[in-house]
Amino acid sequence: MTGTSKASAGSKVMAAVIACGAIGCADAVAAIVVLNIDMPLDKVAPGRQGMHLGDHHRARIFYDDSSINPVTHVVPVIHMEHMMGTWVPALVGDPTMPMGDAWLDLSAKPYRYHYKAPAFVGERIIVAGRVLNEDARPVPGTLLELWQCNAAGRYRHPVDQHDAPLDPNFDGVGQVVTNERGEYRFLTIKPGAYPWRNTQNSWRPAHIHFGVFGPAFATRLITQMYFPGDPLLALDAIYLGTADKVARERLISAYDPDLSEAEWALGYRFDIVLRGRQATPMESA
Ligand SMILES: [Fe+2]
Repeated sequence: MTGTSKASAGSKVMAAVIACGAIGCADAVAAIVVLNIDMPLDKVAPGRQGMHLGDHHRARIFYDDSSINPVTHVVPVIHMEHMMGTWVPALVGDPTMPMGDAWLDLSAKPYRYHYKAPAFVGERIIVAGRVLNEDARPVPGTLLELWQCNAAGRYRHPVDQHDAPLDPNFDGVGQVVTNERGEYRFLTIKPGAYPWRNTQNSWRPAHIHFGVFGPAFATRLITQMYFPGDPLLALDAIYLGTADKVARERLISAYDPDLSEAEWALGYRFDIVLRGRQATPMESA
């Protein structure tokens, strides 16, 4: 990747090119990119009072896309806005941003933004869709939680003792809120299958857990998203636990080449319908 493509790769999900005047930058700057970043705290301000290793820092930075150094991957930060109270706990990472791919050097001003490709291991995927009500109308402001195992089939959780490696750069959890069109979008990796001892030699198909919260419904809804063509689906007691074949097939995401991004990530679409005849099967209410 070139430096520019790295920058755009990281900024594709939530970035937009904005008018230069919006932040009062110099006329010489041609293309300002605004990038939402979510960085492990230990890369931002180690030892800072009140912060804990693993906490994340969220900010929105503005930089000139043309000024990134293709060798050092350093770009001068023109402007930075802190977001969401600045500090959020670990395990509330935002996988709409590649984790481990960016950090800020706060030792001097102007701040310098470093970029490198995500260090987590696995097949990068974009999971996107809409949250809809029974009338197929979008439901904005819905908080989606996501949790999943890593590419090797291991959760970052003490209960998970599967003999597969943990990925130090991948937490496997994240949150996002649907926009005014009910849309959400995650960047993550494709989870691996894992054994679960339900029966001898039983393996869970690749899946992503979703928790759904919304202002219009007080209950937390939980479901799982699967991947098309997975041979383990036909053997999975949890997937088959939804007796209605048509309904359970709504749990399978659809590969979408238009959502995929060249040389970056594969795209899968998964809409969540909260109620009605087309409702997405839920595990609990
Ligand atoms: Fe699971």
